[in-house]
Amino acid sequence: MTAPILRRLDDLRATTAPWQRAGTRIGVVPTMGALHDGHLSLVAAAKAACEHVVVTIFVNPKQFNNAKDLENYPRTEESDARKLARFDVDALWVPDGDQMYPESFATNVSVAGLTDVMEGAHRPGHFDGVATVVAKLFTQTSATDAFFGEKDFQQLLVVRRMAADLDLPVTVHGCPTIRDIDGLALSSRNLLLSDRARTVAPRLHEEMQEIAEGLKGDRPFTSLQTAAITRLEKAGFTSVDYLDLRRQSDLSPAVDTRAPARLFAAATLAGVRLIDNMSI
Ligand code: PAF
Repeated sequence: MTAPILRRLDDLRATTAPWQRAGTRIGVVPTMGALHDGHLSLVAAAKAACEHVVVTIFVNPKQFNNAKDLENYPRTEESDARKLARFDVDALWVPDGDQMYPESFATNVSVAGLTDVMEGAHRPGHFDGVATVVAKLFTQTSATDAFFGEKDFQQLLVVRRMAADLDLPVTVHGCPTIRDIDGLALSSRNLLLSDRARTVAPRLHEEMQEIAEGLKGDRPFTSLQTAAITRLEKAGFTSVDYLDLRRQSDLSPAVDTRAPARLFAAATLAGVRLIDNMSI
């Protein structure tokens, strides 16, 4: 069944108020649209855990540090609504711009520490934009549970920290990354890849797997990292922003790989910035 598309806060509140009064679990799946199977896996997880599910679609200008990136971001609302029909979600929250950021809007939610590295270092202001909009989405939807993909692992940790620090009564669930058959992590940005670039894109994950194998064989991380970056550049990646091994708990450098660690990567291919991460 096609879910109602709500664009005004009054309509959203009127929808969620009876659910709240009944004490039911309200699951929210925050997205910026251009939905793919990764998003749909979050919707399935929300449906399994909660009586009511709201999917949000809002291309959040505050988290883009590059105007062109914001302009190019895919917007596919009609097909998104069609993809969601089979999940029987209760509502799509697609706020008009003024419902999220009225002219008088003056608040910024900023998470320190976790945001100093990787995406935070390469995209100034990005995580302030994410933390601000997600805090608002949680309160607007009266969420009890929220579902995020591990594909954006740093974002998942930032959102967990923000929700805990602000005492938001929301359980933040991390769900596994969904990959295409060739290993490329699903992302709305993949739609921006040319056919040629799409054939090269899986190299990022292949190189990460190569590093993981090397680490299993006790090879030093820095030499594996340097070789992988060289090969990625040769394959056509124009810049590799990072290819880092970090602790899963706080994103500090994983010098001791016996602690749960993840390998994180961000690299640009034909003008499209791809990110990925995997557990080591
Ligand atoms: O991961 C995303 O799509 C966005 O960062 C989010 C969480 C919907 C906030 O705009």
